[in-house]
Amino acid sequence: MKGIVLAGGKGTRLYPMTKAVSKQLLPVFDKPLIYYPISVLMLAGIKDILIISTPEDIPQYEKLLGSGESMGVNFSYIVQEKPRGLADAFILGESFIGDDNVCLVLGDNVFYGQSLSSVLERAVARKEGATVFGYPVGDAREFGVVEFDDDNNVISIEEKPAHPKSKYAVPGLYFYDNDVVRIAKDVKPSARGEIEITSVNNAYLQNGKLKVELLGRGMAWLDTGSPIGLLKAAEFVEAVQSRQGLYVACLEEIAWRKGFIWDDKLEAVGNELKMTDYGKYLLSLLQD
Ligand code: DAU
Repeated sequence: MKGIVLAGGKGTRLYPMTKAVSKQLLPVFDKPLIYYPISVLMLAGIKDILIISTPEDIPQYEKLLGSGESMGVNFSYIVQEKPRGLADAFILGESFIGDDNVCLVLGDNVFYGQSLSSVLERAVARKEGATVFGYPVGDAREFGVVEFDDDNNVISIEEKPAHPKSKYAVPGLYFYDNDVVRIAKDVKPSARGEIEITSVNNAYLQNGKLKVELLGRGMAWLDTGSPIGLLKAAEFVEAVQSRQGLYVACLEEIAWRKGFIWDDKLEAVGNELKMTDYGKYLLSLLQD
């Protein structure tokens, strides 16, 4: 399975913070925002990862992440000239995806929770159709919203409905079979002029191939779309890390635990960053 992180867009809701800096490079406590969605792909066992961003910002992501060698993964990069919509990821990513299935994660979505790895493994194991997630929120109007029956069969999925049919928002994490490339090419722009991921999901729903998995109380899906959301996300990460002494979205740690890299590489990165708590943490893993 291939992975795509969509990290473009203008970030206008966070101006002036994002006037000169890509939103997904802003810090969430001690690491750039994009580390968090990348950690989700790595936890799903995905090693081939495409980063999509704007022509101005792609060089910054290349500088930050490089080839991925130090994390045992392969990063590729592609430019999205204009924010045409989330479904554009599959059109731009067509040759990267090849004949594989693909997982898309939005570059501004942060997930953390105990059952995350097993949820991801189940989605990866499903070879056909599409899997989306449902997460209860107080006000679902700002999101894709999924409605389902008692057996978790999807009844409808709508983008930012004025009158949501359920309280379940669809987070920015989606798993698809290879049909997604063909389906994305057929999507017509919405009223806001974007090729919507919700239209892709509706196409799977029409074919009876859309599955929803509910994320429960133990899972955090954090909002980074506003200054207060960013601050709260940072506070959450800080609280978990300082209380447990375990890092959230430490990419080298995930790589090491997953067997993508061995002790020598973890030690090398730890030594490079040993003036920081992040580096000291990596080195401490080798002592445990
Ligand atoms: O966060 C979950 C929500 O994300 C879903 O519930 C919605 O169904 C989905 O449409 C999306 O809604 P947003 O309105 O929040 O998406 P936004 O336009 O803010 O874009 C999300 C991320 O993707 C953001 O980091 C910018 C990036 N992006 C967006 C577009 C439209 C791109 O890189 N390229 C694009 O063309």
